[in-house]
Amino acid sequence: MIPDATEKKRLYDEARAAVLTMWDGEPDAIARMASAACILAQTMPHYFWTGFYRVVGGELVIGPYQGTPGCLRIKWGRGVCGAAWSTGETQVVADVHAFPGHIACDSRSESEIVVPVKDSQGRVIAVFDVDSTELGAFDEVDRAALEGLFGKWLT
Ligand code: SME
Repeated sequence: MIPDATEKKRLYDEARAAVLTMWDGEPDAIARMASAACILAQTMPHYFWTGFYRVVGGELVIGPYQGTPGCLRIKWGRGVCGAAWSTGETQVVADVHAFPGHIACDSRSESEIVVPVKDSQGRVIAVFDVDSTELGAFDEVDRAALEGLFGKWLT
């Protein structure tokens, strides 16, 4: 179920407050990723697969996630996650089947958003990836909320 814009914003406000409370005083990246993935997956009704890929040794490697089994490694520039990593820009994909090189970890995925997570030098250290079973589930509300939250990664 895709919430309307008002409800989406309300749910993101709720999730953001919960995530920032859990991040407070916790510097460990995996602990922060695990709590963010858990809270967002529990809060947002249009999320199907929710999680992180970390930049490790020149590849994206699976991190904390909620959902069905994810692919373990993604190469530079490959798929939607690789595009977010190589460009440093959020990718909002209304129909994953129309995205060249999309990597289908679960055939039920129809749309996707991937947000880069950056360090204090602006280098991408991970990407946050969400899939939905519905087409066009993600929009500017999702982008603004997630970029705002992950902009708080280091604060
Ligand atoms: N679909 C992603 C791969 C990761 S899974 O969705 C969990 C992509 O094309 O990058």
